[in-house]
Amino acid sequence: HLDHAIRPKQLHDYIGQPRVREQLEIFIGAARGRAESLDHTLVFGPPGLGKTTLANIIATEMGVGLKSTSGPVLERAGDLAAMLTNLQPGDVLFIDEIHRLSAVVEEILYPAMEDFQLDIVIGEGPAARSIKLDLPPFTLVGATTRAGLLTSPLRDRFGIVQRLEFYSIEELSEIVARSARLLGVAADEDGAREVARRSRGTPRIANRLLRRVRDFAEVRGSGHIDADIADQALNMLHVDHHGLDHMDRRLLLAMIEKFDGGPVGVDSLAAAIGEERDTIEDVIEPYLIQQGLMMRTARGRVVTRQAWHHFGLAPDDCAPAPS
Ligand code: ADE
Repeated sequence: HLDHAIRPKQLHDYIGQPRVREQLEIFIGAARGRAESLDHTLVFGPPGLGKTTLANIIATEMGVGLKSTSGPVLERAGDLAAMLTNLQPGDVLFIDEIHRLSAVVEEILYPAMEDFQLDIVIGEGPAARSIKLDLPPFTLVGATTRAGLLTSPLRDRFGIVQRLEFYSIEELSEIVARSARLLGVAADEDGAREVARRSRGTPRIANRLLRRVRDFAEVRGSGHIDADIADQALNMLHVDHHGLDHMDRRLLLAMIEKFDGGPVGVDSLAAAIGEERDTIEDVIEPYLIQQGLMMRTARGRVVTRQAWHHFGLAPDDCAPAPS
């Protein structure tokens, strides 16, 4: 995979999320000291902030193997049973998009998490039998975009719950500088910072933009990434100076132009811009809300004054603001 070379492998190399790092360091250290497996861990937050990376780091730090799957892939009880019976003692089982598990699969997971027991019904009708199997101790690491999407019995079975936050520009600058080093690209401090400033607080986006800026620098420049080359490349990619991309602008402009700034329900908004409601809720709006460009209210979504200003508009008269 493209990201393999630059993905941090130990907690020590993981930049940002200081509270998550500190807590995991303690819980992992304690579990190791007692020669136990780590408690089941739920990691949630917007896409691209490092949930999968953390699952890999947990396995590495615990010195155990990792088996990886996702909610939508586990269609039947047997799919999960196959994963569980394949685990070595202490392994990490990583389930991405864990909020998308079906109810039957979730039912299998409860006794597995709680008692390391596999409880499964085979066959149908009068011939149906229930079998119980002991599983090795393991650590379930679940990832989801929003903790609120989980059923409460599932959420309650995680002993460790970590929320990932958007990264600061300083943290992202460090990540970009580190990735540039590992990719063998020359990026000066201002160049790394320009990529960081325009990456929506998200390492995955920063690393993707870094690769595209590198392409631009190699073909249109000297191969060296400075602030000017980064700015030109990012303008070409239609990433604006606030780091908003095409979809961000579409969402905000739809709210302003079609709904007079809101309040507007998320379903109306989804219809207006031709996006899935889930994409708006999980991918697009968390960053816009964090940046103070829009708000979620009981009556629907509203843009803030700052969003109007972003487009050179004024909320009161809808006319271009004097510059
Ligand atoms: N790459 C992606 N996320 C990262 C992080 N948090 N620290 C370092 N490198 C990363």
